[in-house]
Amino acid sequence: MKITDSIKYVGVNDHQVDLFEGQYAVPNGMAYNSYVILDDKIAVMDTVDANFTHEWLDHLQQVLNNRKPDYLIVQHMEPDHAANVANFLKVYPDTTVVANAKTFTMIKNFFDLDLDGQKLEVKNGGTLCLGSHNLTFVFAPMVHWPEVMVTYDSTDKVLFSADGFGKFGALDVDEDWDDEARRYFIGIVGKYGPQVQSLLKVAATLDIQVICPLHGPVLSQDLGHYISLYDKWSSYTPEEEGIVIAYTSVYGHTKKAVEILTDKLKSKGCPKVVVYDLARDDMSLALSDAFRYSKLVLATTTYNASVYPFMHDYLTRLAEHNFQNRTVGLIENGSWAPLAAKVMKELLSGCKKINWLDTTVKILSAVNQENMDQLEAMAAELCKEYIAQNDQLANKNDLTALFRIGYGLYVVTSNDGKKDNGLIVNTVTQLTDTPNRVAVNINKENYSHHIIKQTGVMNVNCLSVDAPFSVFQQFGFQTGRSVDKFAGQKICRSDNGLVFLDKYINAFMSLKVEQYVDLGTHGMFICQVTEARVMSDQDTMTYTYYQKHVKPQPETEGKKGFVCKVCGYIYEGDELPEDFICPLCKHGAIDFEPIG
Ligand code: FEO
Repeated sequence: MKITDSIKYVGVNDHQVDLFEGQYAVPNGMAYNSYVILDDKIAVMDTVDANFTHEWLDHLQQVLNNRKPDYLIVQHMEPDHAANVANFLKVYPDTTVVANAKTFTMIKNFFDLDLDGQKLEVKNGGTLCLGSHNLTFVFAPMVHWPEVMVTYDSTDKVLFSADGFGKFGALDVDEDWDDEARRYFIGIVGKYGPQVQSLLKVAATLDIQVICPLHGPVLSQDLGHYISLYDKWSSYTPEEEGIVIAYTSVYGHTKKAVEILTDKLKSKGCPKVVVYDLARDDMSLALSDAFRYSKLVLATTTYNASVYPFMHDYLTRLAEHNFQNRTVGLIENGSWAPLAAKVMKELLSGCKKINWLDTTVKILSAVNQENMDQLEAMAAELCKEYIAQNDQLANKNDLTALFRIGYGLYVVTSNDGKKDNGLIVNTVTQLTDTPNRVAVNINKENYSHHIIKQTGVMNVNCLSVDAPFSVFQQFGFQTGRSVDKFAGQKICRSDNGLVFLDKYINAFMSLKVEQYVDLGTHGMFICQVTEARVMSDQDTMTYTYYQKHVKPQPETEGKKGFVCKVCGYIYEGDELPEDFICPLCKHGAIDFEPIG
């Protein structure tokens, strides 16, 4: 087979192999690729598996057409490619073997060959000229063994990529590249994503027209597609939106939960749901699909104080293959001492960037109504963005969207002529930078609005993440009309005479009001900046940070009603009046959410 005018294919197809590497089912066989570069000097690129010695030597002889090879370039020592190094040298004893130091050590270990006088040891970036073909060797350690190197032919712009860009399947079977290349990559090279990323960075600097891997077809069209998939796989980026459910079930109850969840996910707009019975389905496919899709649900039985063996195997493989950067949900079953969820979480504890679902389904033998509710909650959590993207299913009037605007939190200080005042606000925005202009929105019911409308000046203190809850109580939960919020405090003043906070802020700005816009419930003060100081390098306190890390979690256990998301105040009752104002922080009904 011709790759270019001077590069020929001499590999073989293997339809005898049942399990590649002793574990991967290969129903369409396997290809062991080898190439010959015909030039003033002749180079043979790698050998093939031990079962195909003579077939390969025949192919080689045909292409050589009575010439003798000058070089055998060994890129990878795994026996599916290097098993015939010694056999080759028996037939072509005058050939020089080109490889790196690690490879020569492995050749000695595999074949007890020293190759004195007939070896050319290359360094990373080393070159070899065959006449018109100039080869450059790029080391690619751990893609997939430590000695691996790839070879770039700058004349024909060919990358000989070793195991990279390989796939399961013989070349005489027509099948889709992506699925079997993914299963091959995740199973065999997947653990070494960072090393593949390094190789891709080097490849990006080369003009590559053809990729010649050691398995699978030669790639010469649409290379961007293959390179982009490799980039996704090796950076552990989900390739597609969708949910894999991998389960084991002993008596069918866990399977029942999986079936219910599958139906719910489909009805909630999940673009793809793929289910694997780990005891019966192909483990390598279940593994590669976990890397393909964005979310994974694991469902299993507690077994011998651990998890069911096939699930244990699956989780071990996920962890060993560097599974990461995914959303994961758990369904456990246990008739007397369920611990599957705990064990599953422990087995994946080394995986990075796992977004665990809030909902875990806990089945105590058979699926009951509580489990149905849990499955509904899990499906809703998993499908939140799919529902929101779906024109029919989306809630198009979900005003909690407004809370996703990235607010900072600030103390606005002012003075009514008699005492200093301070107020918590989250609506400070820079409007322009030439000149610097800042807008501050304040509720008209706040005393600060009244003062600033009269005085036309304020300081905006940018709270930093070290601010404790007491700061919010001090400035947010009481009114400056009746309380001196700075009583007993250390007072620092800016040039405009107003207070700035002596701690818990990373900066403050003094503002002078230029314009006032009446917004009904609120007034917008558009201001120029008259002074600005940076106090620390701490991060600014955001509304989200406050909610997650500062605000004490309200004690809603056993209570029915609504809780204020700003301060945690609990309103007990079946219905929250629309005009309800939180007695603690003065926020309205929109800032409350139902308990439970
Ligand atoms: Fe195809 Fe790592 O050998």
